[in-house]
Amino acid sequence: MTDTERRLEPGQEMDPAEALAMDEALLRELEPEAGRLYDRHASVAQEWFPHDFIPYRLGRDFDKEPWTPDQPRLTGVAQTAFEIGLLTEDNLPSYHRLIHGMFGKGDGAWINWVGRWTAEEGRHAIVLRDYLTVTRNIDPVLLERGRMAQLQQGYDHDSPSTLRGLAYVAFQELATRIAHRNTGRYSSDPVADKIMIRIAADENLHMVFYRDILGAALQVQPSAAVRAIVAEVLAFEMPGAGIPGFIRKAAAIAKAGIYDLRVHHDEVLMPILRHWRIFELEGLDAAAEDARTRLAEHLAKLDAAAKRFEERLATSTVPRIVSTG
Ligand SMILES: [Fe+2]
Ligand SMILES: [Fe+2]
Repeated sequence: MTDTERRLEPGQEMDPAEALAMDEALLRELEPEAGRLYDRHASVAQEWFPHDFIPYRLGRDFDKEPWTPDQPRLTGVAQTAFEIGLLTEDNLPSYHRLIHGMFGKGDGAWINWVGRWTAEEGRHAIVLRDYLTVTRNIDPVLLERGRMAQLQQGYDHDSPSTLRGLAYVAFQELATRIAHRNTGRYSSDPVADKIMIRIAADENLHMVFYRDILGAALQVQPSAAVRAIVAEVLAFEMPGAGIPGFIRKAAAIAKAGIYDLRVHHDEVLMPILRHWRIFELEGLDAAAEDARTRLAEHLAKLDAAAKRFEERLATSTVPRIVSTG
């Protein structure tokens, strides 16, 4: 632990100026590690091209043959999951604003990462929209209106702190990786599956960057990092939560096994929390100890809710897949 860490009591908050100074100190201290992780990312990330994944031979002009509801081969939850997946990716301008807010006070490697991450994310909406348009699997008018509504509403996250932002994106990238991967599998379309495997591989590398830079932050400001992680686990929402009808659509996606409480607990929260050894850290301040107790309670509740959900599935008529993470 460094002497930049200030110990807090439960319920005690840092004043905003002090919190900002801590953020800036953290970004400075972690910049060499961000550079190392950026280089590692650049050495393993593969270049890929959306057009290689699209079956253009299926394309027809929409002015000659407009979209009609009988055209999609994807139906039901498979269609819903693609719609949520694309609208979530569409909101990239908001995510860029937030990520820049989080790292923009740093320089060098931090700024390089913001640019690289944004450019990679941009491919996801491109490949998904091209696939859905060419195959006519979703009404293109609905998609465009959805995109307009999404971007005008934007997306926000209530805390600008670097630690909270890092904690959120680590969980979110893994959640998105699994949701995309399972959406592809659920579609039973080899073309869609291949696209989703490709996107999920990107999301995985993003998760690894955020997970590991926050792992480094845990060495520098352990108590503040634990408090931030707990706050994000307790408040976690998928980035698509603002999409109209999201609750109903997310419920269908959960019933289908694409993303449910069991996946969230077992495949998203626990692996990352274990990786950070959250429950083994020593020497935390009282506020972080208190947060860790609340985290344990929250995880137990989530696990119990997942069990109840699984029991209720016995009466569900929605076809379901078993997540493979
Ligand atoms: Fe993405
Ligand atoms: Fe990502």
